[in-house]
Amino acid sequence: MLMNVKTSSHNYDIVIEKGIFSRLGDVISDVAKGKLFVITDENVDAIYHDKLYSNLSDYNFEYMVLPAGERTKCLDMLGRIYSALADAKMSRSDTIIAFGGGVIGDITGLAAATYLRGVNFIGIPTTLLSQVDSSVGGKVAIDLPQGKNLVGSFYPPKKVIIDTEFLNTLPERVFNDGMAEVIKYACIRDAKLFDILSDDISNRMDEIVYMCLDIKRQVVEADEFDKGERMILNFGHTFGHAVEKMYNYETYTHGEAVAIGMSKITRATENMGYTEDGTSDRLENLLAKYNLVFDNFTFDAETAMNIMALDKKSDSEYINYIFIKNIGTCEIVKRSKEDKFIVK
Ligand SMILES: NC(=O)c1ccc[n+]([C@@H]2O[C@H](COP(=O)([O-])OP(=O)(O)OC[C@H]3O[C@@H](n4cnc5c(N)ncnc54)[C@H](O)[C@@H]3O)[C@@H](O)[C@H]2O)c1
Ligand SMILES: [Zn+2]
Repeated sequence: MLMNVKTSSHNYDIVIEKGIFSRLGDVISDVAKGKLFVITDENVDAIYHDKLYSNLSDYNFEYMVLPAGERTKCLDMLGRIYSALADAKMSRSDTIIAFGGGVIGDITGLAAATYLRGVNFIGIPTTLLSQVDSSVGGKVAIDLPQGKNLVGSFYPPKKVIIDTEFLNTLPERVFNDGMAEVIKYACIRDAKLFDILSDDISNRMDEIVYMCLDIKRQVVEADEFDKGERMILNFGHTFGHAVEKMYNYETYTHGEAVAIGMSKITRATENMGYTEDGTSDRLENLLAKYNLVFDNFTFDAETAMNIMALDKKSDSEYINYIFIKNIGTCEIVKRSKEDKFIVK
């Protein structure tokens, strides 16, 4: 499946096909200019090193393996990438490839955006989260000790290659982490996707990734620089970020925290009569299928509301909440920070 994404700087293709990694050399031939510089992490390297080398055998390329995990998205590592690019004498007519999950995509993208004021960049996302989320939107970033994604830019790739076969080697918890975002897309825009997710999905990942990206593409094309409508992609996130912070980013993965956010918010809006009856149960049943329901999650509403009020995505007096009316339909609701509603 092929999707074309429009951005203000250029349009690019996303190719989604199970097994396409084995034809990587051909698929990137239209955009892989000059020498290639592939950046990955140690887990992806451990599984796919030999395949990568044989699939790129027609190319001249350099290869850099970084430690796995969020801590890699730091200034020190970005500095090491710049040094390696300079040592390899990479020029503006060469190409950098991110081969890995969202961590590798984000730091590699930022390196590509800034080295020599911007070089050619191709993405090969290997986690479900990075396939359905990072492939569209052009956001690239690293973290600072003071917070996540504090240094970054918008730098869309020249092409994205998505092979859903990569998902077969993901640890189950990492796969489910991505499923939380998939379920989010279904909740805000696509009741049909919600039904597909309730069935056997094993042979439908290409279609599922396509449906998610198509939703993100439509939303992002209408709001490239994240000023308004793009906010709907934050369903479950304001609350989810509060949960992540409360637990120091240790207890819950991002997706798990978003799942908690989606179910708590929807339970609350259903109790308020805003959301159609039965929606919370449907959502929680689907989340349970992917181990994304947390019964013993102890919830301190007051603390969460205060953390939400400090979230960088909220402006001074109000918090923008994303509520769903039913599965597939959402709305942005602006509420005063003082006007705390009851979340149980
Ligand atoms: N730029 C964006 O729009 C955007 C969107 C969402 C998330 N993000 C960022 O992405 C990051 C999270 O991404 P992630 O969840 O992919 O994390 P990740 O890159 O850390 O990958 C998760 C784990 O899976 C391993 N892995 C990756 N591919 C694998 C494979 N095919 N088989 C086996 N193991 C594999 C990794 O080594 C890592 O241990 C965060 O830093 C977040 O801020 C960015
Ligand atoms: Zn998210």
